[in-house]
Amino acid sequence: MHEKNLHDTWVDAGPICGAPDGEYSKPFSYLMYYEDEFKSLRDAPLTIVEIGVFRGQFLETLGRYFPNASILGIDSQPERATFQGKNIALAYGEQGDREGLDAVFRTHVPQRADIIIDDASHVGELTKSCYDVAIQWLKPGGRYYIEDWGTGYWQDWPDGASIQAPMFEGKTPSGFASRLISHSAGMIGVIKELVDHVGAAESLDTPTIASMSVIPGVVRLLKAG
Ligand SMILES: C[S@@+](CC[C@H](N)C(=O)[O-])C[C@H]1O[C@@H](n2cnc3c(N)ncnc32)[C@H](O)[C@@H]1O
Repeated sequence: MHEKNLHDTWVDAGPICGAPDGEYSKPFSYLMYYEDEFKSLRDAPLTIVEIGVFRGQFLETLGRYFPNASILGIDSQPERATFQGKNIALAYGEQGDREGLDAVFRTHVPQRADIIIDDASHVGELTKSCYDVAIQWLKPGGRYYIEDWGTGYWQDWPDGASIQAPMFEGKTPSGFASRLISHSAGMIGVIKELVDHVGAAESLDTPTIASMSVIPGVVRLLKAG
């Protein structure tokens, strides 16, 4: 029986990582979502990778919440992270550097990961590049989470834009519109493209994604077993 849920574990981790009192770098709704996702796995000897760790608050949270897991944090500025968990390791890695990221996984998680969480740049091009590498290091049946994908709706984000109205384009010989063009700025294009990995897996030269769940702020992909 575990004493604390994910939210309370997160709150406890705050002071260890130097998080300003009451500052929530992760929305409450995400913590509730992850609680539902993770509670049945708490005692399992999982390998978990978090890409984008900042102060290390979620890293420390994961280390406490999963006492039998091995946790790896990857960040382009790892020196900012503080944690106490003996089951946590930290490595330098840049999302857009395919070879470097691949080497980090090969060195630290040769057994491959059960869970990968991308909470790093939230920039489409970098997120996609990171996904292409990291998904290879996820076990069949493993879970890949992408956080804060809604940045693609933000006009002031480096690759975001205000949402565009969807528009039908072209005509098929049978007289139907041939395609629906919809918002695809930054992260939104990446998330929508991942639907192809579920629906057209057999035609793509990529690892098969068995299912995809999309909620505000968090996307979860289940790698086919
Ligand atoms: C939102 S913060 C992570 C917060 C952390 N997951 C938590 O919940 O406590 C984003 C982190 O991603 C890192 N980051 C941003 N762009 C990156 C990139 N291209 N490659 C690797 N890390 C990156 C930043 O240095 C920062 O520490």
